[in-house]
Amino acid sequence: MQKALLVKEIGKPLSLGTRPIPKPKARKVVVKVTAAQVLPHDTASRDKGLFISNHLPSVPAHNIAGIVQELGPDVTEYSIGQHIYGQGDPLAVTPDQCGLQEFAILPTNMSAPVPDNFSDDQMVTLPINATTIFCALFHQNWLGFPAPFSPESKTFDYGKQKLVIIGGNSNCGRFAIQFAKMVGIGTIIAIASLSGEQELKTMGASHVIDRYSQTIVKEVQEICGGEEEVTHVVDTVTYDFDLAMEMVATHCPSSIAVLHVADVTAQLEKRGKKWGRGSGVSGWKNNFDEETGKLYWESLGKWVQEGKILIPKFRVIEGLDEVLVNEALDSYIGHKPVVQAVIHPR
Ligand SMILES: NC(=O)c1ccc[n+]([C@@H]2O[C@H](COP(=O)([O-])OP(=O)(O)OC[C@H]3O[C@@H](n4cnc5c(N)ncnc54)[C@H](OP(=O)(O)O)[C@@H]3O)[C@@H](O)[C@H]2O)c1
Repeated sequence: MQKALLVKEIGKPLSLGTRPIPKPKARKVVVKVTAAQVLPHDTASRDKGLFISNHLPSVPAHNIAGIVQELGPDVTEYSIGQHIYGQGDPLAVTPDQCGLQEFAILPTNMSAPVPDNFSDDQMVTLPINATTIFCALFHQNWLGFPAPFSPESKTFDYGKQKLVIIGGNSNCGRFAIQFAKMVGIGTIIAIASLSGEQELKTMGASHVIDRYSQTIVKEVQEICGGEEEVTHVVDTVTYDFDLAMEMVATHCPSSIAVLHVADVTAQLEKRGKKWGRGSGVSGWKNNFDEETGKLYWESLGKWVQEGKILIPKFRVIEGLDEVLVNEALDSYIGHKPVVQAVIHPR
C-alpha cells in the first residue's frame, strides 16, 4: 500500500489515506512520484465531481513527474531509474494515473524524459496545459494551423495569420502566446489585464487589449483589418464564449477553440454565423496519431531547452499536506491569477 491524498466525498476536502501501488499494463510504466501539479479541473473534481463522481475514492493531479520504477510489457522507451514527466488520464476509472500519491502510472505515449538541465519540478508544470493548447492551435479539430514539425509547416505562411487569445494572462493563455510566437504567427492578440501587458508582449503577443475594455470586439477587428478578418480565436477562460462568438467573421469561415465543454458551432449558427465552427478541446487525452503525438512529446523538452516555451512560475508544497494542498485547490476558485503549486508527495 501507499499514501495518497483522496477525494472520498464530492464537496469535501481531500484527506490522507492509503491505496494499492499500481501495476503497469502494456505501454505504461510505474513512477515513484517526485512532483505533481494540481490544476483547475482538480478543484472542479473535488468540489463538483468533474470526471470522478462515478468512481470514488479518487486522487487529484494528472501532471506527474517521477523516477521509473517498473516497466509494463512492450515498453522500450524508458529504463528503470530514469526521470520522466507526463500526463495521466483524469477520466480513468481507477486513480492509478494520478499524482498525489507515492507511485503512479504514466503512459509512454503521453510522457517524455526530463530534459538535461531541467528539473522534475519544472517539467511537471507543462503537460496538460501545454498539450491542450498545442491541440487547440495545431489539431484539425480546432484551429488547425500546421503543427511546427509537419511537412505543411515548411511552406505555410504563419506570418499572415491572426490569432486572438481570450484570457492571455491565464496559464493556458500564456502557452497559446508562446506556441503562436514559436511558429511565427504575425498577429497575436491577447485579451488580458493590462498589469501583464509587458510580460505577455515579451512572450510574443503583438497586441494586448484590456480585458475590461468596453470596446474589445471593435479593437480586435481594427487590429485584424476588418470584421471578416477575425477567423482564429482561442478562449482559455470563459464558459459562455460570447466574446469569441461576437468577434468572429460572419461571412468567412472561422474557428473558435474553447477549453470547456460546448457546441460552439450550433451557437454560432443561431447568431447567423453559419461559416463558423467551434468546440471544447479535450486536452486530457491523446488527440494525435501515434507519430504526431511522439513528435510533440519529443519536441516539448527541446522547445523548453531552446527557451521557446518558458516554465511557468510555481511554488512547492513538501509532502501530501492535506491543508496546503486543499488551499492550493481553493486558489483556483474565481479565476484569479494563481502561482501554481507543485507537490512533492514524499
Ligand atoms: N479542456 C481542457 O482539456 C483543459 C485543459 C486545461 C485547462 N482547462 C480549463 O481552462 C481554464 C483555464 O485554465 P488555466 O490554468 O489557464 O487558468 P488560470 O491560469 O488559473 O486562469 C486565471 C487567469 O484567467 C484570467 N481571466 C479570468 N477571467 C478572464 C476573462 N473573462 N477574460 C480574460 N482573462 C480572464 C485572469 O487573468 P488576468 O490576470 O488578466 O485577470 C487570471 O489570471 C480552466 O477552467 C481549466 O479547467 C481545460
